[in-house]
Amino acid sequence: MTAAIALTDTQDAAADAIRRAVELLQAGEVVALPTETVYGLGADALNEDAVAKVFAVKERPEFDPLIVHLSDREQLREVAEIPEEIESYIQQLVQEFWPGPLTIVLPKKAAIPDLVTAGMPTVAVRMSAHPIFTKVARTLGRPIAAPSANRFGRISPTSAAAVMEELGDRIPLILDGGACSDGLESTIVRVSPPEKNKPVYEILRAGPVTPDMLKQFGQIKKRKPGNVAKDAPGQLASHYAPRTPIRLLEKPSDFVADPAKSYALLSYRENPKDGYLDLHEWDEVAALTPGSGKQAEAAVRFFYVLRQLDHAGVDEIIAEPMSEVGLGIAMMDRLRRASHQDEAGS
Ligand code: TXA
Ligand code: MG
Repeated sequence: MTAAIALTDTQDAAADAIRRAVELLQAGEVVALPTETVYGLGADALNEDAVAKVFAVKERPEFDPLIVHLSDREQLREVAEIPEEIESYIQQLVQEFWPGPLTIVLPKKAAIPDLVTAGMPTVAVRMSAHPIFTKVARTLGRPIAAPSANRFGRISPTSAAAVMEELGDRIPLILDGGACSDGLESTIVRVSPPEKNKPVYEILRAGPVTPDMLKQFGQIKKRKPGNVAKDAPGQLASHYAPRTPIRLLEKPSDFVADPAKSYALLSYRENPKDGYLDLHEWDEVAALTPGSGKQAEAAVRFFYVLRQLDHAGVDEIIAEPMSEVGLGIAMMDRLRRASHQDEAGS
């Protein structure tokens, strides 16, 4: 099988693409869909056989639960229980951040198959802001379970071409909605009842909704590093791994080149002042934010640049660290996971 790519760049093309996607989803098939974060591999979340195909296509282990995407806010009550003690705080997050890159973990309702949640009593839900995704979800009228549209443990796709490379031989259709505008997977949060009058937010996966953005509505519970895997299954050490080994180089002075090896530099802004550019005669250099140093640009380009360097054919990718504030928290999290080659992850 080779996936068809359906363009959505004119009104007619979009209408046709959406119709084809909905027909496939209704028939229990999987379809790759654009979201504002990364491309997702969607299936009807209430159809267990369709969800099973998602796991098979991705080669994803069944202990790693999927995110359920809603077509509207009202659908939340069909898939999740909202505990009374946190109801007003959930409503606040939903009003503020949906549609958008925030996933909320809540007790699940029976309508959601256990396969979706990997047998856990909770379900992770979000509402995508991508107009094409929204149109597909609304026309289908059912929640869509969608993990990132990459093979398990690989780099998340932020374009239709990247999905083609990952899953093109295994799925019938990819809707091309252009490059993803956020470029990093959604922030995953769990909400607990207030302590000292403020609800407690636990960030299970860092993403485009930053701790600073959440802090206006409650307090952020600090997590011990290493605890993440237990609470957000699938968040294993080596998520997002390119095929080429990658190493986050915390200090330029830590670098000792092996003369037999070729290296690429994943630079933040390709500025010699950062101390990495002139460290070595790199075989390849790619900058996340050429010149500007803007975090949002780096985030949008992040997986694209990582994929590019993975194709460069070098022995190792050396990544510069970046400041861990704002979107830098999510990018550093991805770089750390990608630099550990001991476990696979989603
Ligand atoms: O931005 C995104 O979230 C993208 C787009 C497609 O929406 N999706 C995505 O899905 O990143 P995926 O499958 O690559 O990552 C989902 C992660 C799981 O690995 C797991 O860590 C967490 O979400 N998750 C899912 N259900 C959960 C639950 N009930 N409790 C805690 N974590 C959960
Ligand atoms: Mg993923």
